[in-house]
Amino acid sequence: MTDLNETTLTDAVLARFADTPDPRLKQIVTAFARHLHAFVREVEPTFDEWSRGIDFLTRTGQMCSDKRQEFILLSDVLGVSMLVDAINNRQPAGATETTVLGPFFVEGAPEVANGGDISGGASGEKLHVSGQVSSVGGTPLPGAVVEVWHSDAEGFYDVQRPGQTEPSSRARLRADADGRFDFWSTQPTSYPIPHDGPVGELLSATGRHPYRPAHVHFMISAPGHETLVTHVFVAGDDYLDTDPVFGVKRSLVRDYAQHPAGEGTDGRAMPEPWRSLHYDFALKPSAA
Ligand code: BEZ
Ligand code: FE
Repeated sequence: MTDLNETTLTDAVLARFADTPDPRLKQIVTAFARHLHAFVREVEPTFDEWSRGIDFLTRTGQMCSDKRQEFILLSDVLGVSMLVDAINNRQPAGATETTVLGPFFVEGAPEVANGGDISGGASGEKLHVSGQVSSVGGTPLPGAVVEVWHSDAEGFYDVQRPGQTEPSSRARLRADADGRFDFWSTQPTSYPIPHDGPVGELLSATGRHPYRPAHVHFMISAPGHETLVTHVFVAGDDYLDTDPVFGVKRSLVRDYAQHPAGEGTDGRAMPEPWRSLHYDFALKPSAA
């Protein structure tokens, strides 16, 4: 293959992958080359634009560390994370919908008993969260493991606070014999995704804001079921329609009910106004 030109080059590249032994790898690399060539044919980049693109990807990689994954963030703001999620979570009717994991999940969160406080001392309006975990169809799942994490009243996760070594606003709970769980924490707020790197540059250059609507993250697992990764969003949040990572689904938006000072759901005295959220989760049985 010599004298390749604008017309013949794409086919020559595809042909060079023809002997890839693994058929799935062959499908992936040829589709990637085909779509990348189609992109270049459509955009017709100048050398300067091409090199700016390479520089953007280089800086995206350089921004990655054991604490920061700029490529996943790029996938998030391009809607690719949610597309991969949709393809891999074609839910049966009745299953709780899924959404992105995000970068702030941490293994080994403190184990908290039902009714306990997971705030770790974070300040803010008190929030009581309760729910029931069932299989699609309604059978409760006793002992389901419920991992929760969320932003504080100032829009930060514990891992974003320099100098903070103890976890806050995160926990691992276990559903009781009826699949029920509950805990106290504080009302989450909307917050910007990390935007001090190349992804932030992309958002601002394209007139997009970085704010995610307020939510609590849940990761729920039970034997014989697929692990559910989702959030419950706060109804009425200003950013529900413009989530930078395209993660909002209507079935995941709930009223975080407001209550006056007085008595809490579990009878405790509440000197300040407080909130409550109830959400029931339905897990999809694992493929046989
Ligand atoms: C989050 O909800 O924690 C999140 C998700 C995607 C990107 C950044 C943050
Ligand atoms: Fe989040």
